[in-house]
Amino acid sequence: MNRTVIVGAGVAGAQTALELRHRGYNGAIALLGEEHQPPYDRPPLSKEFLKPATEHHPLDLLPAQVAREQAIDLRLGTHVDGIKAAEQKVVLGDSSTVAYDYLVLATGARNRPLSVPGANLPGVWGLRRLDEAEGLRRALDHARDVVIVGGGFIGLEVAAAARARDTNVTVVELMPRVMARVLSPEMAHHFAQEHRRRGVEILTGVGVTQLLAGPLGNASEVALSDGTVIPADVVVAGIGILPSTDLAERAGLRTSDGIVVDRHLRTSDSRIYAIGDCSRFDCAVSGRDLRLESIQNAVDQARFVAGQIAATNRPPANDRPTALYTALPWFWSEQYDSKLQIVGVAPTEADSVVRGDPSSGSFSVCRFLGERLVAVESVNHARDHVAARKILAADPTRLRRVTRAAVSDAAAPLKSL
Ligand code: APR
Repeated sequence: MNRTVIVGAGVAGAQTALELRHRGYNGAIALLGEEHQPPYDRPPLSKEFLKPATEHHPLDLLPAQVAREQAIDLRLGTHVDGIKAAEQKVVLGDSSTVAYDYLVLATGARNRPLSVPGANLPGVWGLRRLDEAEGLRRALDHARDVVIVGGGFIGLEVAAAARARDTNVTVVELMPRVMARVLSPEMAHHFAQEHRRRGVEILTGVGVTQLLAGPLGNASEVALSDGTVIPADVVVAGIGILPSTDLAERAGLRTSDGIVVDRHLRTSDSRIYAIGDCSRFDCAVSGRDLRLESIQNAVDQARFVAGQIAATNRPPANDRPTALYTALPWFWSEQYDSKLQIVGVAPTEADSVVRGDPSSGSFSVCRFLGERLVAVESVNHARDHVAARKILAADPTRLRRVTRAAVSDAAAPLKSL
């Protein structure tokens, strides 16, 4: 019987397992996850999950019962120590091995550690796992001064959730503006204004040099690179993530800020795929080598790989993977009543054409690289977002008609392009 082993039980791993069954794969599936709870949905952890309301949506992606019904061998609290690629086996923490025909690495990422003195004091939080979100939610319930290090997605979403409790919130961002990694200056400015309007203090171009403890040993102050010291009883570090590539590296697979895969999402060992936050791939849509941190990317790559593996289950003619991975990247964030949707990937040097009136709270920013539209960021404007998805998925000849002049006229629906 064909055997697929999936390492990592986040959304990419869980989706691969479910999709394999959905596509009629009848081999054995083992889904190995380090965390102790069954796979869950992470995006809400920095959003509604942190809010004081008591009612939360369930986060389950693959409850144990469903795993049993689908004959998915879900092994939780299971650390994979190594890969013996030549023998097609993974080695577990207890030295036992699990054999595979196909191995899917969905190892995700870990939080980039804040490397300043005091970073390990009680009261300092990272946010990626459910247990961290639960701890942070409890801490926020009693917080007076919250300092958030990093003004990226995590930092700003947490800032919005913390303000819902009426605590003092300061965001400390090293770059000259928030969300610089992913957003145009115009859209970043809009979000910074939304936060300031609600009383969040945003400090840019400044770093943290030290976290200081109070009399009880908890974090109580944050020292900044400009010499200021600000009070803090809760500190949240949201300074980015590091892809989990150690296992791949030790197995001799190619890595470079991510596990390098080809256009079929296969690593340098063709029996091993890598998907989700840990995977670096040649993105067909943007024409660039990318590692994407998003649910869309995790789910689409999982579906693609499941399709590739399921095809090998069928008669020999279908044995070789032929399809190329070409999914269109998109992202979203929610802060207060602003819903941000991004489609496409813009390099930092891309420039912007603003569409609509930012002061209305509903507008888009179209990003161009030369004369080519490469991404559209929309806030509270689902119509632009949906149209932009269609435009960016269209063939390049049609895309050529989408000029700066054409998109800048907000009265003309994007759809008409
Ligand atoms: N001090 C202050 N700011 C810093 C520091 C530092 N020492 N180091 C990095 N930063 C800033 C970066 O400039 C950036 O704006 O932290 C921010 C991190 O933002 P992201 O890279 O977007 O990462 P984060 O917000 O932590 O989100 C991690 O979770 O929701 C997902 O998609 C999101 O994949 C991302 C992940």
